[in-house]
Amino acid sequence: MCGIVAYVGSRRAYPILIKGLQRLEYRGYDSAGIALITDDNNSIVTYKQAGKVSDLLEFIGDNDTNGSIGIGHTRWATHGPPNQINSHPHSSSDGSFSLIHNGIIENYSSLKKVLEEKGYIFKSDTDSEVLMYLIECVYKTQLKESKDICGDLFYDSIRIALNEVVGAYAIVVIDKNNSEEFYAARKGSPLVIGIGNNEFFVASDASPIIEYTDKVIYLKDEEVARLNKNQEVEIKTIDNKKKSADIQKLEQSIESIEKGGYDHFMLKEIFEQPKSIIDTLRGRINPKTNDIVLGGVKDYESKISTADRLIIIACGTSWHAGLIGEYLIEDLARINVEVEYASEFRYKNPIVTNKDIVIAISQSGETADTLAALEIAKENGALTLGICNVVGSSITRTTSGGTYTHAGPEIGVASTKAFTTQVTVLLLFALRFSQLRKTVDRENYDFLINELNAVPERINQVLNLNDSIEKIALKFKDASNFLYLGRGVNFPIALEGALKLKEISYIHAEGYPAAEMKHGPIALIDEEMPIVVIATRKDNYEKVVSNIQEVKARGGRLIAIVTEGDTEVKSIADHCIEIPKCFREITPLLSIIPLQLLSYHIALMRGCNVDQPRNLAKSVTVE
Ligand code: M6R
Repeated sequence: MCGIVAYVGSRRAYPILIKGLQRLEYRGYDSAGIALITDDNNSIVTYKQAGKVSDLLEFIGDNDTNGSIGIGHTRWATHGPPNQINSHPHSSSDGSFSLIHNGIIENYSSLKKVLEEKGYIFKSDTDSEVLMYLIECVYKTQLKESKDICGDLFYDSIRIALNEVVGAYAIVVIDKNNSEEFYAARKGSPLVIGIGNNEFFVASDASPIIEYTDKVIYLKDEEVARLNKNQEVEIKTIDNKKKSADIQKLEQSIESIEKGGYDHFMLKEIFEQPKSIIDTLRGRINPKTNDIVLGGVKDYESKISTADRLIIIACGTSWHAGLIGEYLIEDLARINVEVEYASEFRYKNPIVTNKDIVIAISQSGETADTLAALEIAKENGALTLGICNVVGSSITRTTSGGTYTHAGPEIGVASTKAFTTQVTVLLLFALRFSQLRKTVDRENYDFLINELNAVPERINQVLNLNDSIEKIALKFKDASNFLYLGRGVNFPIALEGALKLKEISYIHAEGYPAAEMKHGPIALIDEEMPIVVIATRKDNYEKVVSNIQEVKARGGRLIAIVTEGDTEVKSIADHCIEIPKCFREITPLLSIIPLQLLSYHIALMRGCNVDQPRNLAKSVTVE
């Protein structure tokens, strides 16, 4: 979703902003823009353009880009189409100020009406311009009424204006009369401040900052920071309480956000999965006793061991991980698990009490629906835990405890390593809860821990099949529809395989529990229809074989994911991809790999932008 980058210091701001915007491209956007206070210190120059950052660069050409303070933005359209006027930055009506904004101002139309009555004429359709004009209006009113104008007038105007706002925002505002400082504020949308030597960087996430400094502040909700290159950072809440800055060390490396020799981030991230799972497991399984230690959860173990049910809330791929979690936790720990779309949970008047444990799963930790659903769970007294990838993200701050996935930055919009590390954490949860509730005997427990430790090496074996999967992709790249089938723990894999294909190749794909096929989707099957079936051993294998026969009898073209050594499915399916033998609970971590690769190759062969698929955003910070 929208991306913010800003710089104030003594370097030229322009290259920092452009590079920052390029680093933020992965978030998903459809227009981009920058504004700089020019060196003569008297004007703000703004460049914005629909399309990609490369279109913006072409548009700017040789125009003036001097200045050592500026703001940049990638916009993912919500209010109004992605055109030049709606792009950010948005200037105040008199051109004195300029603002970039992420999030949604929910009461923008009532604010707009009031401002229009005061004579403001809006150029764009956006809620962001309303916020800019609101700040300007408060500033002008204050200026008129103020007998003794102190240096804090603009700071206070921003603060006061933000008190009027309902909704979410991360903003940076510049004032053409002050090239030494700008202001940043957030509520519900992430914002990171990077501290350099007499310079500050601001961004929606750490990726544009990482190469300049490792000292960062994660601004908290309803905080406004004044960032003056000659002073220490100053933070106030919107109700005017001074706050001290919590400076943290950024643990990411620049390599982690670059392609490292791969053609695409998605491919790099698929191939990183053995390493990311090792990182997820690191330090969490005692090598001598096999006991699982989850630091962020252990304080709540007594509640977990007597819980009647867990509720998992998530969206998209994280919801699919949650569905796998349901199978794992119910099977191993015998706790009732309900998995809900966060967007449905938040509006359905959910039954949730202080007896419940609500687990939010989110790669970004910023998904608006998941955050809102969590708030409802908290209001009703439930214990809330998070499974997140991004350290310090909003969900990690909202929950009482939880576990990081440690997948490292995931830049490709289509989730791959974030998903498998979420499933790994859920396996750790299921096994730990089974220990607490004594539902799995020691022998089976130790066996499962060994199986879990063997996953990275087994994923490597599946990754070795990349070339043959590419050949299969070539045969199916022109299909218009796909059906994915699986049972048990592999039913969510069917859903996830279908989601991967549709989001990056734009081929329509559906995932179904294999047995449901004859209740409807079987009507779709003909010689044109490719069907991907997960038919691994031990997971209702015979039943899936029957489903495969039903498909074949109707002429469907079959790609099957099978266990190595399989002969039965091989004799029926058109193409088989073998994954190593493993315990049933572990299969999803292996069976998803060929499906990720299949989607990647098909999308590439169709000329799609695999890392930044159309219309999609990496971090969905609006509902
Ligand atoms: O950051 P989150 O895990 O909360 O994001 C949830 C979904 O938006 C996300 O998984 C989305 O479905 C991905 N594009 C899937 O590849």
